[in-house]
Amino acid sequence: MKATARAHTNIALIKYWGKRDEQLFLPMNNSISITLDRFYTTTSVTFRDDLQADVFVLDGKELGGDELGKISRFLDLVRRTANYRGFAIVDSLNDVPTAAGFASSASGFAALAAASTKALGFDISNEGLSILARQGSGSASRSIYGGYAEWHKGVRQDGTDSFATQIMPESFWDLSVLSVMVEAKQKKVLSREGMRRTVETSPFYTGWLDSLESDLSSAREAIHTQDFERLGTVLERNAMKMHATTLGAQPPFLYWTGATIDVMQAVQEMRENGILAYFTIDAGPNVKVICQPADEDVVKMRLLQLECVRNIFPCHPGPGIQYLNT
Ligand code: PMV
Repeated sequence: MKATARAHTNIALIKYWGKRDEQLFLPMNNSISITLDRFYTTTSVTFRDDLQADVFVLDGKELGGDELGKISRFLDLVRRTANYRGFAIVDSLNDVPTAAGFASSASGFAALAAASTKALGFDISNEGLSILARQGSGSASRSIYGGYAEWHKGVRQDGTDSFATQIMPESFWDLSVLSVMVEAKQKKVLSREGMRRTVETSPFYTGWLDSLESDLSSAREAIHTQDFERLGTVLERNAMKMHATTLGAQPPFLYWTGATIDVMQAVQEMRENGILAYFTIDAGPNVKVICQPADEDVVKMRLLQLECVRNIFPCHPGPGIQYLNT
């Protein structure tokens, strides 16, 4: 009753921002992402009849409290479906620079969903896995797939139609995603709280929702036709709109630091000089800069000249769930 799975992180091009159901992690809007090759989580799950409680080991260290609570609640979903009562040892290794504030929850819950269902011998579809992973962290629903994926918000109240599907595999279109690390500090407003606050209080949130369908169809079409300028334009604007909603919240908040803005401006300057590069930002100060592989070195060199940039990790479209032999 043991299985090991690996899942990669993803970066949203069209963001998931706002829940319509907090318990089931049902989003207000569809989102589109690229799974990245460089950052991943590898998780082994061993169910054992002789355990008194779940055990969670992350990067060699046993964790309790909230972290263990989240894992146990997630395993309860799997146990309930399998009608199994035993506990598990969850052993996870993060190949993600978590200290730099890169989200590991997407790869973490996608890997846990895959390893735990496999350990209990489930025959589960990718859509089923996506539904399960979603209930650990919304963005994890997209990490089931390699390459380009879309998480469909669904309309049902029970969440059975809220899962991701693949738009195109990683081999379809190579892009460079430069993860630009500007600050190692923990983020102050977690995405869950940030979403709740903007949905409930920001007058700009309706503007966000109103323009989403058009962003989604532009992004989908740009991917299908490999139109980089079109994709870059829509992804950067979509990120700006997401962050604009936080400024109207009560109390207002902002994920950017001065360093974030320095990187954003350097990217816009590069475009003025004919280099097609675009940025996106999640619920933290770091920036992801997207460009075509032929421009990767020059974009990286330019960004490394900025005093505020600590490190740059170049990534490319990566694979979906992988099962490893243990
Ligand atoms: O599911 P979470 O808690 O990792 O939320 C992700 C929120 C954003 O990163 C801001 C957007 C996204 O779609 O990944």
